[in-house]
Amino acid sequence: MIITSTNARVAISVYAPDIIRVRGVKGDFKKDISYAVVADPIGGFSSIREGSSELVLSTESLKVVVTKNPLGIQFFNKEGKLIDGDEKGLGIGWQGSEVTSYRTLFPEERFIGLGEKTGPLDRRGMSFVNWNTDHPAYGEQDDPLYVSVPFFIGLHDLTVYGIFFDNSSRTVFDFGASTDSRFYSFSAADGNMNYYFLSSSSVAGVIEKYTYLTGRMKMPPYWSLGYQQCRWSYYPDTEVLNLARTFRSKKIPADVIYLDIHYMDGYKIFTWHPERFPRPKEMIDSLKSMGFHVVTIVDPGIKIEKGYFAYEEGIRDDYFAKYPGGDYYVGSVWPGRCHFPDFTKKEVREWWGKSFSALTRPGVEGFWNDMNEPAVWGQKVPDAVRFYKEGEGGTIREIHNVYGLQMARSTFEGTKSLLNGKRTFVLTRAAFSGIQRYSAVWTGDNFSSDEHMMLAVRLVNSMGISGIAFTGPDVGGFAGDPSAGLFARWMSIGAYTPFFRNHKEYGMKRQEPWSFGEEVEGLAKKFISWRYQLLPYIYSAFHEASRTGLPVARSLAIDYPFNENIYREEFQNEYLFGDNFLIAPASSKEKYCKVYLPQGGWYRLGSEQLYAGDQSVIVESPLEDLPVFVRAGGVITVQSLIQSTSVKPSDTLQIHVYYGNRGSNFVYYEDDGQTYEYEKGVFHRRTISFDPPGGEITLSKVEGSYASKFKTVDMILHGFEKRNQISVNGKTVITKSYNNLPNVMQAGFDNSEAEIKIKF
Ligand code: GLC
Repeated sequence: MIITSTNARVAISVYAPDIIRVRGVKGDFKKDISYAVVADPIGGFSSIREGSSELVLSTESLKVVVTKNPLGIQFFNKEGKLIDGDEKGLGIGWQGSEVTSYRTLFPEERFIGLGEKTGPLDRRGMSFVNWNTDHPAYGEQDDPLYVSVPFFIGLHDLTVYGIFFDNSSRTVFDFGASTDSRFYSFSAADGNMNYYFLSSSSVAGVIEKYTYLTGRMKMPPYWSLGYQQCRWSYYPDTEVLNLARTFRSKKIPADVIYLDIHYMDGYKIFTWHPERFPRPKEMIDSLKSMGFHVVTIVDPGIKIEKGYFAYEEGIRDDYFAKYPGGDYYVGSVWPGRCHFPDFTKKEVREWWGKSFSALTRPGVEGFWNDMNEPAVWGQKVPDAVRFYKEGEGGTIREIHNVYGLQMARSTFEGTKSLLNGKRTFVLTRAAFSGIQRYSAVWTGDNFSSDEHMMLAVRLVNSMGISGIAFTGPDVGGFAGDPSAGLFARWMSIGAYTPFFRNHKEYGMKRQEPWSFGEEVEGLAKKFISWRYQLLPYIYSAFHEASRTGLPVARSLAIDYPFNENIYREEFQNEYLFGDNFLIAPASSKEKYCKVYLPQGGWYRLGSEQLYAGDQSVIVESPLEDLPVFVRAGGVITVQSLIQSTSVKPSDTLQIHVYYGNRGSNFVYYEDDGQTYEYEKGVFHRRTISFDPPGGEITLSKVEGSYASKFKTVDMILHGFEKRNQISVNGKTVITKSYNNLPNVMQAGFDNSEAEIKIKF
């Protein structure tokens, strides 16, 4: 539907009954190119009523009211309640090339999301810029960082909505920071007004809609959920092998070792340093035999050097970004003077993807995309630099924020095909909306401090709200040196972080799990080991993210958006990890901390102490015991300890059920962890339902054709009334006590039956 008013033309289209797109232009509509959106519009509105001054467009779930002069668009729910809309008299406005949407701000309105942003969970009263920026050791309030996700969720009057502003140029979001609460706004330096309005009854529902629009992650390789060790840089090959051996001899589980820039010859992408890594395949084979996977760094800058194949091929085929006159842009990064691949051209993406054979041939399985803001010394690529943009042409002003996304895409697509059906793993620093389709994201060059550890939790949680589930910081901190206590605490939080990688800047002290003395080594080993035991639970949470977009680390704002306690400074970092863990990140200096427990009941993990919800409590938080709680009524799945994901656990799956008055449904998921066969139904999925009033736990009929690796189940019942037996599919099973805990019982049974009903 196109509406022409005195000052603009607006197109309103329907992507789902609760997803409406608004495009506004001053002149003519241009070709529609989005690097973020993968969904297409569906039919039109179910009804259109045209009055003299306004137009009413309806879908099954929304009513869009458009006033023509001046133009104004408002979104109402079916009950006629205003959800969000243009601020009267302002609406969409242009100033030079800049376009702004001014919108009604409700008195109690809060805002969450916007991806990798510092600042508090509730973004009301703040303003933010999206311009992907290489910002080493960023400050706690600094903005912008490396990632742009112009998507946020608004919350007011028990109403939830989301807005995705699909404009890749520099954008500014002002959530009532400088407007005396009259309106909130978002603007872009160039391009058109182009936003999607998303409506749902819950925050999770809005995230589901947003990831319907911008895509979801595929299941990552199972090994990428394991512990990952990184440093700038481990070299030569003998050091890398020693590192791997040390993990194994100390029995500290780990799956991945990273090679930072020193593995390359003169920092030239797709090369190996001839002295440091003379036989990469041999080294990687040895690592594989110890159960390690290798991830190597790649930066986009291609060194200008005669004879270097990537440079020669790029020049031959005209693959680099250039100035209007046709000269290639030159910027300096690690290798010195470089040209930069133009990832907005299909041929360049394919060429880049294929070039990874230099890494996949010797056996590299993960690809770390760095410096892809793109970062150049001096920070600024001149505005005049041009890109192909799928044939339409564009300057760095609109490509900058999607450059990292397109590099990650090229890397993902290329390596996926090179790995012949095996899952690839991509990690990126810069990103834009939609990155979840291709890559995990880490939060860049952070700092070893308690404040940064807390900020990291918030960044990860905010990215989760914004569709990016596979994220994590440099655990331990990149810049600076952590105290032993900080390192220990950060490792315990890392175990409950979707992406768990320890990384350290060049020249700083060692930061391996054993670098801080025996006591901390013991703690780090305990936390990492627990992570490995929890993998069946964590993998199920990843499955959920790949299916619905619901993140793995979930800010409490997802489930409790209208509970004001969760926004308080002291509680805003708390999050759910998967469905049933509540993590209260305490600093390394606190022996006690204050925790807010949302409604329901919560068991302290380890002590089994049950707390009533909807209250704040002061709990012990020693370094060995991060405050972690399990939802009363929740289910956790646990396996035996393994040293890496390439080792098979014992064939018993522990299913821990924590008693509560309210039941739950936990979707348990397994697949081969290595291929994309699960897309064809080769997976094993059951819903584990706990029904307290019915006195029943059910393992639903198995979906999918993959045989579970677990032949038997040990059901561990926490906080249940004591009894000597339970019944499993009508047969009596005797219970035992579990770990000598008075309130915990254990009962074992076969996992092979299609459906399993347990009566207690
Ligand atoms: C950048 C990255 C960092 C990496 C370093 C050297 O600073 O963010 O993770 O170690 O470059 O490649």
